[in-house]
Amino acid sequence: MRVVSGIQPTGNLHLGNYLGAIRNWVRMQDEMGEGEQCLFFLADLHAISMPHDPAELRRATLEMAAALVACGIDPSRSVLFNQAQVPAHAELQWLLNGTARMGWLNRMTQFKDKSGKNREGASAALFTYPVLQAADVLLYQATHVPVGEDQKQHLELARDIAQKFNNDFASEDAPVFTLPDPISPPKAARIMNLRDGTKKMSKSDPSEMSRIELADSPDEVMKKIKKAKTDPEPLPSEEKGLEDRPEALNLVTIYAALTDASVEDVLKDFGGEGFGKFKPALGELLVETLRPISERFTALLDDREALDAILARGASQAREIGRPTLEAAYTALGLIR
Ligand code: TYM
Repeated sequence: MRVVSGIQPTGNLHLGNYLGAIRNWVRMQDEMGEGEQCLFFLADLHAISMPHDPAELRRATLEMAAALVACGIDPSRSVLFNQAQVPAHAELQWLLNGTARMGWLNRMTQFKDKSGKNREGASAALFTYPVLQAADVLLYQATHVPVGEDQKQHLELARDIAQKFNNDFASEDAPVFTLPDPISPPKAARIMNLRDGTKKMSKSDPSEMSRIELADSPDEVMKKIKKAKTDPEPLPSEEKGLEDRPEALNLVTIYAALTDASVEDVLKDFGGEGFGKFKPALGELLVETLRPISERFTALLDDREALDAILARGASQAREIGRPTLEAAYTALGLIR
């Protein structure tokens, strides 16, 4: 089993990333057996697909590295690095651009969402972004890729690219790439925006009130939960009572994820209660979960040398692991090295 996953350093880590992805990364790391390995990276190359400020990207990359370690990614057990320190990601993307089809990329919903009405003005990188994502996982022969629901389509594309490349350029008994399986955590695969329960919680939403960030102070957390959009009805005692109540469902989902319970279990405890009682309970639970993480985060950020060393070591390990596959891809394509 080889686990590979990434996160874009485009802002602070928020609760959606944490409950939808990072917490699961830590669990997978903790369950790794002999000969198994996890690689986690900061997708800084992906971050330049949108307009960005270079100084801000540098800062966010270091902050995200510190946040991942604070959440429990242990650089002595997992390989933790940033893409830009491992040139093989960009190289393999180019090789895979020959295999990816325009029609496949045209179907990607993230491109449609992020380019919005201004498709002609979007960067070419935003369009070919999923090919880089395929390179990220295929480079390491990933077997499992933990992601939230929103990234599943990109992983399906990675499988299609791997399959076509193997068919076109490799023999059946010696495929160049392994087909990766996307896996989502059973609970809380999708945490929604606190101001609009039909949109996912996201770094790119202009309103800070729409998301809980891992570095938020206890006061900020309590305030954001108190102000989170809800409806006037009390909580139902069964899950079907949350249909058509996306904001209420989201808050209950967050509570369930934090306590490792099901939505049904939470409703057994809070069914019939109003938000006046539920919100403070959720706020306190969040504050207690985030407290140790934000303490470790602040301490790590103060030690820039240690962070640089973690990333340098991770990058050198990643380069070693990826080298044979990159060479095999060049060779399969008939490129002389
Ligand atoms: P990114 O940086 O947007 O998000 C990182 C991870 O967090 C998950 N996630 C969420 N899960 C639940 N609810 C939410 N509101 C929420 N918001 C984000 C995402 O599904 C993701 O798992 N393209 C990727 C980064 C990437 C990558 C890869 C991932 C680049 N290469 C290779 C896996 C494998 C992205 O932008 O994720």
